[in-house]
Amino acid sequence: MLGDKELELTDLVQRAENTFETNFKKKPQWVASAPGRVNLIGEHTDYNGGYVFPMAIQRSVVLAAAPSDETGENGETIVNIYSHNLGETKSLKIIDNKIKRSLTWTDYIAGIFAGFLALGAEIPSLDIVVDGNVPLGGGLSSSAALEVSVATLLEAVTGKNLSALDKVLLCQKAEHDFAGVPCGIMDQFASVNGKKDHLLLLDCKSTKAYVVPFENPDISILIIDSNVKHQLANGEYAKRREECEKAAEILGVELLRDVKMADLEAKESEMDATVFKRARHVIAETERTANAAKAMKRGEWSLVGELMLESHASLRDDYEVSCNELDLLVELVMDCGKSKGVLGTRMTGGGFGGCTVSLVPKKILEEIIQDVSARYFEKTGIQPAVFTTRPAQGAQMVKQ
Ligand code: GLA
Repeated sequence: MLGDKELELTDLVQRAENTFETNFKKKPQWVASAPGRVNLIGEHTDYNGGYVFPMAIQRSVVLAAAPSDETGENGETIVNIYSHNLGETKSLKIIDNKIKRSLTWTDYIAGIFAGFLALGAEIPSLDIVVDGNVPLGGGLSSSAALEVSVATLLEAVTGKNLSALDKVLLCQKAEHDFAGVPCGIMDQFASVNGKKDHLLLLDCKSTKAYVVPFENPDISILIIDSNVKHQLANGEYAKRREECEKAAEILGVELLRDVKMADLEAKESEMDATVFKRARHVIAETERTANAAKAMKRGEWSLVGELMLESHASLRDDYEVSCNELDLLVELVMDCGKSKGVLGTRMTGGGFGGCTVSLVPKKILEEIIQDVSARYFEKTGIQPAVFTTRPAQGAQMVKQ
């Protein structure tokens, strides 16, 4: 289990406020929070205009902030940021309404400031504490949670209120331009729009979301962090996007979302085998995702589980974004739990490490956690981190 990472949002808020007072010797004026997300199914479909089916989780980034009267030598705006988790302070400078990348964790924050500056917002000097319990680099969108929390804070600080979609797009642009990851919109969308006890079936082409209730108290959403992070992730993510664009070009469409499997198969001979496999995953996954949402609405839980397992196999074999540790976790969850009623499991997020998500009957949850953790450790020498969550509310100002 994850110790302090299991703090409730209210405890996290309290801790951020205390840390702020200790560090900056004053009380924070604003507190903002934004959750991470887990995607139940619909992976690597967002940048292809397909469906995704995520929810916000009960793990968040919390910011405590107040104005400061510090300015640079030439009157520049100064933003001091203390990270509770890293135990370090970094300062950002806004010069001539511009802010620069610095190739460190503050870029997620700087990217959002850049977005607000581009909209003409006036940003004063600020002191900020960043705290949170979304595992870093675990495929649960810690970076989107940070971006969205900063955007939420800056709305309050500058009075520049954005529509939910504009906020999502501003955060996505920060990730593209400042973090260098050409992500889709799923993570930022879930962090902004998460709804307690609901999943979001998001059509990434129209950007319209349909909410699906998840209230069954007998089913737990179990997240297991493999605790492996593979370095190739970013380059490989961009490569997958390019392969999808290549497939779309050959098929004469803008987005793979608009292709039927039969149309892809008809063009197989014109495509590189890898490009074909990538497209096959995207087209099948989009259909699986829509079907999973329908099945959940009707309470057909075993179908939801089957679709999750198919999704994992497709990500492993056709999209090649899984890794041995994630495959092992999927195998162990089904091995320990299939006969006891585990519904389904799969890798979640971008891949190459990070977490699995599983739907597990509540009554066997502890048993599955014990069994899978012990067997994973036995085989890999790595202790997995495990927690459960319910669908949570999206970003909010806690204090303003
Ligand atoms: C990352 C990206 C998302 C999405 C997933 C894969 O989380 O940020 O936009 O593409 O990978 O589904």
